[in-house]
Amino acid sequence: MDRLKNKVVMITGGARGVGYCMCKRFVEENPAVIYSIDMADGCYEHPLVRPVKLSITDRPALVKFAEEVKKEFGRVDVLINNAAITRDAMLYKMTEEQWDAVINVNLKGTFNMTQAVVPFMREQKTGSIISISSGSGVYGNIGQTNYAATKAGLIGMTYSWAKELNLHGEQIRCNVLAPDNIETEMARTIPAKILEPLIARTPLKRMCQPVEVANTALFLASDEASFINGQVVCVNGGLRL
Ligand SMILES: NC(=O)c1ccc[n+]([C@@H]2O[C@H](COP(=O)([O-])OP(=O)(O)OC[C@H]3O[C@@H](n4cnc5c(N)ncnc54)[C@H](O)[C@@H]3O)[C@@H](O)[C@H]2O)c1
Repeated sequence: MDRLKNKVVMITGGARGVGYCMCKRFVEENPAVIYSIDMADGCYEHPLVRPVKLSITDRPALVKFAEEVKKEFGRVDVLINNAAITRDAMLYKMTEEQWDAVINVNLKGTFNMTQAVVPFMREQKTGSIISISSGSGVYGNIGQTNYAATKAGLIGMTYSWAKELNLHGEQIRCNVLAPDNIETEMARTIPAKILEPLIARTPLKRMCQPVEVANTALFLASDEASFINGQVVCVNGGLRL
């Protein structure tokens, strides 16, 4: 019940889906505060959860937000890069707009957010950064050239951060969590003719529940995972896309 005791936590995409569920699960572990960062309205209502309305594509807004956090808490212990979008299309039909939109939010947005937070962690010499990838980024997926590129990109960035942020004996752990077929709004956009065979091919024969991703992120965020760095943890019921 105290796995996040006194920790300052930031979760992007906290207004719904997995991010919302993480906020709900994480408050049970007594953090100092959870910033729920989303451009959409809404967040899990709890005295420890603070909604921050901004887009991770907006670098000036992120700098301003980081300044406010510096004044109030002066530290950030956990960053969960969870916000993402999809604009699926087959390669031969994908528009430049679809490509750019997904790269801008999922890849550049994660870069923006992490860059805003990393000075805190460098100063503290501790921290945990967890970026939510996907089986699409590990195995590729039909109709997801843009999304898979960003989700594979998160893995490359994380492997780099796991080395670069610990050059001087710091303990800044950077890991990727790669889930598949989570029962959220995002998965509701997948046509049944695609989703049903995927569930049939999943050894556990069901979709992933958001809390199963939240529990894994909680473990990686906590000091229980103190020697886990530069890893991709798949939460997929054994499915290999
Ligand atoms: N749902 C799935 O089946 C599935 C599978 C594998 C991986 N994932 C990954 O899990 C994570 C969560 O997915 P989800 O299903 O909860 O998605 P979701 O679409 O339900 O929620 C995503 C949230 O991110 C927010 N967001 C989007 N763009 C943003 C921006 N520019 N700035 C700030 N917030 C922004 C949205 O407003 C939304 O609240 C994502 O990274 C997704 O790629 C999901």
